[in-house]
Amino acid sequence: MRVADCESDAVALTREWRSVGNTIGFVPTMGALHEGHLSLVREARTRCGKVVVSIFVNPAQFGPGEDLTRYPRMIEADCGLLASEGVDLVFAPTPDTVYPTGFSTFVEVTGLTAGLCGASRPGHFRGVTTVCCALFNIIGPDIAVFGEKDFQQLAVIRRMTRDLRLRPEIVQCPIVRETDGLAMSSRNAYLSPEEREQAAFIYRGLTAVTRAAGKGETDLKALKAVFVSVLSRAPMLTLSYFEAVDPDSLEPAENLDRTVRLLAAVVAGSTRLIDNISLEPPHPSRRTGC
Ligand code: PAF
Repeated sequence: MRVADCESDAVALTREWRSVGNTIGFVPTMGALHEGHLSLVREARTRCGKVVVSIFVNPAQFGPGEDLTRYPRMIEADCGLLASEGVDLVFAPTPDTVYPTGFSTFVEVTGLTAGLCGASRPGHFRGVTTVCCALFNIIGPDIAVFGEKDFQQLAVIRRMTRDLRLRPEIVQCPIVRETDGLAMSSRNAYLSPEEREQAAFIYRGLTAVTRAAGKGETDLKALKAVFVSVLSRAPMLTLSYFEAVDPDSLEPAENLDRTVRLLAAVVAGSTRLIDNISLEPPHPSRRTGC
């Protein structure tokens, strides 16, 4: 496995691979890797001849007062994990490499970024799309793999890639969960033991909503009430939002006549946790009133 912090090395190596007919799968990360990231790497491995992972804690996607300085950095442990997954190149640039003096161009997807996490994290998605666009241009991947956990990010990256005709196909992978259902995230490490225990109620709430819908409940307000009621059993968690949205446009769903995505964000102490689940329309025979 090669590790490059220099952009020209990453460009030269990936260019050489492409010139002899290799396909390149790319997994952008901010490090502090867990099984969720490794599932993305494995997906890239099954689809492409060469796999590149970037590790870069991107300052542009952290707002003032967010966790940029305390974000976990463990490059050696990360490289150990990636080597055992057979990754070909880890690109771990410095902020000065990605944002050299005079850098003044930003990529912004409008609309999709206005609500949900975008509402409370202004500038966050602009930072994500800017760095992903730059990384795509450096690596030149055939596919780029993203997790469904950051569902809004996935939709935003998909839209940017489509609108700007960027090279990679965007591949999405399911959320990887802890045994109690909590979605894996590098930020889970911030949780106190009590917060960590209560964080499991997020997924319990989402599955309770799925069960209620399965029994015929189609009213989205009633389904939100189910989520809020489960979450009330975890007093250390504060609801930031719970929304049912169209999975592509992220527009609020009016009703359950087609598949929607339920997205939730909660705050535990100073840690923001997000999760989501797909909700299918109810089977006709189970609709309330039938
Ligand atoms: O999901 C992440 O870890 C980051 O937002 C990403 C895509 C690596 C961009 O910095």
